[in-house]
Amino acid sequence: MAERKRVLSGMRPTGRLHLGNLHGALDNWVQLQQRYDCFYFVADWHALTTDYASPGQIEANTWDMVLDWLSVGLDPDRSTLFVQSSVMEHAELYLLLGMITPLPWLERNPTYKEQQQQLTQKDLSTYGFLGYPVLQAADIIIYKAHGVPVGKDQLPHVEMTREIARRFNFMYEKEVFPVPDPLLTEVPVLPGTDGRKMSKSYGNCIYITEPEETIREKIARMMTDPHRVRRNDPGDPELSPVFAYHRIYSSPSEIEEIAQGCRTASIGCVDCKRKLTDNVLKVLAPIRQMRLDLEGRMDWVREQMRAGTETARRQARETLSEVRGAIGLGRPL
Ligand code: TRP
Repeated sequence: MAERKRVLSGMRPTGRLHLGNLHGALDNWVQLQQRYDCFYFVADWHALTTDYASPGQIEANTWDMVLDWLSVGLDPDRSTLFVQSSVMEHAELYLLLGMITPLPWLERNPTYKEQQQQLTQKDLSTYGFLGYPVLQAADIIIYKAHGVPVGKDQLPHVEMTREIARRFNFMYEKEVFPVPDPLLTEVPVLPGTDGRKMSKSYGNCIYITEPEETIREKIARMMTDPHRVRRNDPGDPELSPVFAYHRIYSSPSEIEEIAQGCRTASIGCVDCKRKLTDNVLKVLAPIRQMRLDLEGRMDWVREQMRAGTETARRQARETLSEVRGAIGLGRPL
């Protein structure tokens, strides 16, 4: 069998994951396991670039997130799952890439200015925050990844990774690093319960492994087409977040039926939500069950992550000895 191409992606440890994460990234990560040699990691150093002043949750969030990863089907037998801060080689490559990365590339990075403007409660005028994409480039090319599954927001970082990889190969006259391609995830738009983008900071999330009762309540209170005030008013499904969920959780015939029923007012919002609740719970029940099982086997979970980290480290060390050779640093004494 021809060797599988490698993909790599990371996620900052934000704790329990929500349905936006599931349908935006994780489902895709799970699928990719069938065709690629997958490396997935917890980007806890990246979390530190914005949360350095209050890092208290990072470790707990790491394990919360890892449990969700395993619950939705990331498989440690098929993928290399690891934690960034346990593979110190990322830091070494980050340092070396820092030497060759022109400052204007970083200053021009669109996410740099955007985030500084948006996260005004945090002081992001740090060296570490400016260097965020250099660390990300190190994460990617240290494993010689060919593909990087990411959402649109991460494209500038992958683009910079490509430029840094090319610059390294050119400067030291050796093709050490493949130039990775972004694998853009086509994200179905899954709004939060209030119709805005689903986000922890908006308090409008449904979590992947939350209890059945609260999922019921959240769907019951979810926003619908705001123009459909009375039961007999015809509605526009395209304006209802509930319908966006049906698109993901319901069968094609159900979706058609719901859309028709909404437009003609032959089905009310309560019934529409009841149907959705049934379908969502059906998908999430086995995931929730898996999480409960795993919580009782934390030793096993930690062992899986330790083993994945070991595999990653071996690969990272190999790359670094090539890197040192290409630069001409010689072996460590
Ligand atoms: N910056 C990414 C995010 O915020 C996380 C990340 C860190 C990452 N290193 C990476 C993603 C390497 C892909 C590849 O989502």
